[in-house]
Amino acid sequence: MKLSTVAKLLSQDQTQVEIETKGWVRTFRAKRFIALNDGSTINNIQCVIDFENTDEAILKRITTGAAVHIKGTLEESQGKGQSVEVKVTTIEILGDSDPEEYPIQPKKHSFEFLRENAHLRTRTNTFSAVMRLRSSLSFAIHKYFNENGFYYMHTPIITGSDAEGAGEMFRVSNLDSKNPALTENGDIDYSQDFFGKETNLTVSGQLEAETYAMSLGKVYTFGPTFRAENSNTSRHLSEFWMIEPEVAFMDLAGNMDLAEDFMKSVLSYILEHNKEDLEFLEQRLVQEDKSKPQAERSDMTLIEKLKFVVDNNFKRVSYTEAIDILRNCKPNKKKKFKYLINEWGADLQSEHERFLVEKHFKCPVILFDYPADIKAFYMRLNDDGKTVRAMDILFPGIGEIVGGAQREERLDVLKEKMAAINIDEKELWWYLDLRKYGTAVHSGFGLGFERLVMFATGMSNIRDVIPFPRTPQNAEF
Ligand code: 4AD
Ligand code: MG
Repeated sequence: MKLSTVAKLLSQDQTQVEIETKGWVRTFRAKRFIALNDGSTINNIQCVIDFENTDEAILKRITTGAAVHIKGTLEESQGKGQSVEVKVTTIEILGDSDPEEYPIQPKKHSFEFLRENAHLRTRTNTFSAVMRLRSSLSFAIHKYFNENGFYYMHTPIITGSDAEGAGEMFRVSNLDSKNPALTENGDIDYSQDFFGKETNLTVSGQLEAETYAMSLGKVYTFGPTFRAENSNTSRHLSEFWMIEPEVAFMDLAGNMDLAEDFMKSVLSYILEHNKEDLEFLEQRLVQEDKSKPQAERSDMTLIEKLKFVVDNNFKRVSYTEAIDILRNCKPNKKKKFKYLINEWGADLQSEHERFLVEKHFKCPVILFDYPADIKAFYMRLNDDGKTVRAMDILFPGIGEIVGGAQREERLDVLKEKMAAINIDEKELWWYLDLRKYGTAVHSGFGLGFERLVMFATGMSNIRDVIPFPRTPQNAEF
């Protein structure tokens, strides 16, 4: 007989049929009722044992966490809470659990505890729902780009260019750490290292993606990126996944349109395809909200929030306008911000971004035309000589979720900007070549995948939306 998933059984109309399924026991009560889950859905199927005709030794082995193989008949359920159930004819224990030691007991666990048991945490409803949504979002991202004429490009993970300036890097080396080769000056001699030069894990695939945009037209990357910053926040990982589209002949306005359409599309996809998981996570948040003071409770449910983003325009605001709003806002005047906004040119902290999105505009915001001094060298300089064609997208509850720009396509301007921050032209000779041979306006952005998953699931800590988080002082598993 063909094995059925729990999802398939639960959605099957025809009852009184023989079925066969495998999964893990979530609970076993009254020596009769197994709640079985196999990961195919948030819902368990109830499997009813005829305990009088089942060996006592087998009954003892049906414990939370055990893997079982069940054969039986699918029947209309007598009990509440499910439409069908399985009347078990045979049960085989595939893998025993240990009811005393098994960490995932059928009770509420703290997220901290589950992080320490990240290898088992997807056996809970919350984490299985989050990870199914993560998978769905990845698929929706590839689908969007595929349907819109983009090519998927794999940018290198080990990079030899350390000039991107997006963050601190992790070195990749196989030199003997106790006794590394040294130069005459006593510095580490990377010419004797594996690649004959200093190499690092990439912080972004953007510069390489630009090379492909300038030949294939529309490309995107979706891969892991690494940052060695010591940021122990609920929104930073040392290893995270980033989606980076890059498009030739597209300016900043086109970049904003693309980002907005793309984000709405992937969120619509999960609203359509992951209803049960979203409903479960929504209920979890409703319960969590009840224990919070009134002022901190959210005014929209998770699904309302997602629909709101899909159905409303993102507000487009220049950095200069944003600074005016921030300078004159209550928390700034009353010195409630940790970093007060005094003048144009100030870098925005997450407290400012969240004020703009959550308190002032109450919708996703695209900030653009930032001061050149606080943004990367490759962003296109505006005619005012002091701002660049940068854009950041800010989301409620998250802050910055996307960072991007129209790229500087003029060779002379790019060289000047590199010289000003001491980037050696030899280091990025290939990047400059793009401006020498057939240069053109082009733009792109980076979406932090885990921040998107946080928004989509309502999870408040980024460590809970990636299977095995890497953060400072933590690389277990
Ligand atoms: O703003 P960032 O640093 O932009 C870039 O790397 C550009 N090269 C992207 C491009 O234009 N192609 O990073 C982009 C996004 C951020 O907006 C944020 O969502 C996410 O990546 N991000 C992080 N996510 C988790 N942990 C971290 N440490 C992150 N740093 C950035
Ligand atoms: Mg950024």
